[in-house]
Amino acid sequence: MSDALGAVERAFGSDYLMPSKVYVDIKKYAGDFRAMPAWLEPYAGVKWVNVHPNNPKTQGLPSVMAVIILSDPKTGFPLAVLDGTTITNYRTGAAGGIAAKHLARKNAHSLGLVGAGVQAHLQALAVSLVRDIKTIKIFDLRPEASKKLAADLGSKIKADFQIASSAREACDADIVCTTVPSTKPIVEDAWLKPGTHVNEIGADGPGKQALEIDTLKRAKIFVDNWDQASHSGAINAGVESGKLTRADVAGEIKDVVLGKTGRKNDGELTVFDSTGLAIQDVATAGMVYEKAVTKKLGFKVNFL
Ligand SMILES: NC(=O)c1ccc[n+]([C@@H]2O[C@H](COP(=O)([O-])OP(=O)(O)OC[C@H]3O[C@@H](n4cnc5c(N)ncnc54)[C@H](O)[C@@H]3O)[C@@H](O)[C@H]2O)c1
Repeated sequence: MSDALGAVERAFGSDYLMPSKVYVDIKKYAGDFRAMPAWLEPYAGVKWVNVHPNNPKTQGLPSVMAVIILSDPKTGFPLAVLDGTTITNYRTGAAGGIAAKHLARKNAHSLGLVGAGVQAHLQALAVSLVRDIKTIKIFDLRPEASKKLAADLGSKIKADFQIASSAREACDADIVCTTVPSTKPIVEDAWLKPGTHVNEIGADGPGKQALEIDTLKRAKIFVDNWDQASHSGAINAGVESGKLTRADVAGEIKDVVLGKTGRKNDGELTVFDSTGLAIQDVATAGMVYEKAVTKKLGFKVNFL
């Protein structure tokens, strides 16, 4: 995870070319696909990724799976095809970690997780690398998911794990990560104390949301990318209804990483609206590709 944090922080602070992701919404199968291209030196790449929220229950498969193609931007030569599922999980965790590094209070010691699935696991790993997390509170509609996550993280993070009996209890924390595929708010504004930092990770499609409009109105909101966030992030429902505009957004994560904007005092409520950027994938895939070449992992395929 520390390598992914480095790759994603470099990506956020770099120059790049990244058209908005393209959605293929397949209602028949209650799922969608996204094509996510980007150029970020020294690679160009594209990720083909799905979100099928019912998969864990009905198919025994993860909700999110992906393939990434990396090419040489100078010639277009295809360099590698990588499993993008693990890379997606790590780059998403890393985005939350970088947001927490720059936006959470320095003295943030507690983490609340609303949703205890795959992304919650990676958020916890990343956040615990950028802050001295002593307490982790976990809430999921499925208590067995909370217990499993606490057990899985227990071997990786030295902290006091608490299974919360409500989302409200989990939100009583310095840093809150929401990783739920919800289409209505699941966190009430009154539950979030001043000074909290929230990573809203679950909303990455039109109509998805976890935070109330009152929270988004009082918070300092940082999006990963305005075009993507206004279309499919935590703010998309508010933008769609006209209750939120670009003036309600304090900045993009690029500006935060470059030190142009950010938290000004310990009383501010900050929200990172993460939709997931193709540059996160290309940067993380590039890091994995270079490690694989060095360690002589993978196998050669003749594309030409
Ligand atoms: N922002 C990004 O870059 C990014 C990347 C990947 C996935 N995502 C999104 O993150 C979300 C979670 O993905 P995942 O892979 O962790 O899925 P997952 O299925 O592994 O976990 C989701 C968990 O949320 C729980 N849940 C559902 N409704 C809840 C509620 N109201 N309150 C509490 N818990 C609830 C489920 O029981 C489940 O355990 C999805 O919406 C996915 O699209 C975002």
